[in-house]
Amino acid sequence: MISLKEIGKKYPTNKNDYGFLDIYEKYFEPLREKKLNILEIGVDKGDSLRLWKEYFINSKICGLDIDKKDFKINDVEIFQGDQNDKTLLSKIANKYGKFDIIIDDGSHISKHIINSFNHLFDHLSRNGLYIVEDLQTSYIPRYGGSRMNLIKKNSSMNFFKSLSDSINYENLDRPFFKKNRFDGLINSVHFYQNIVFIFKGESKKYFHPNVKTNFLDIFKKLLSYLFR
Ligand SMILES: C[S@@+](CC[C@H](N)C(=O)[O-])C[C@H]1O[C@@H](n2cnc3c(N)ncnc32)[C@H](O)[C@@H]1O
Repeated sequence: MISLKEIGKKYPTNKNDYGFLDIYEKYFEPLREKKLNILEIGVDKGDSLRLWKEYFINSKICGLDIDKKDFKINDVEIFQGDQNDKTLLSKIANKYGKFDIIIDDGSHISKHIINSFNHLFDHLSRNGLYIVEDLQTSYIPRYGGSRMNLIKKNSSMNFFKSLSDSINYENLDRPFFKKNRFDGLINSVHFYQNIVFIFKGESKKYFHPNVKTNFLDIFKKLLSYLFR
């Protein structure tokens, strides 16, 4: 079968120029013939939607863009709206059921990226894959990022880096520790240049098989918290 990169030559999406297709192919090749629901935020001229449609031969593909599109792509549904609009995102997700793959190639503004991820995570299938492109914008102030402060609150890269703690959340046990909504639900986070792949998946409990916490444990945790 023709490779993703070869198909990409037919469609002038900038995914060709940024080396993303080689990375995509690595993850997508085993999924190619499966029946998946795929959403891409950011349609532009529709080239990436055409690419996905041709590559994933049995999948349902849809796209979302803030601008109205005056073209149609066979068997691909294009929604118009803002990636921050939770009502619209839920409406799209409810129409398709869970999404197996979601690609965010929309505004690239950190706040928007995080809003969409926060909302769509619940609409991602159990072992679904969420991808965010063009993360170089996380280092650009007008996109809500910073070149200097790499742990800037609400920058997209800092947000995705923090998901790695959700993978290892079992080790974050502290007296006042509260699980966040991603803890135990992230299988892995794969960073490449300017793009991240987040694999959803329930983690196994390796270290805390229903051990009852006693007062001494709480005291020790309190000490380690105070002197961290
Ligand atoms: C980089 S282009 C998408 C390119 C396309 N995915 C491709 O590979 O050919 C980004 C698109 O995101 C859209 N966009 C910008 N802000 C958005 C928002 N808040 N919600 C949804 N789409 C948005 C723009 O209109 C633009 O078409």
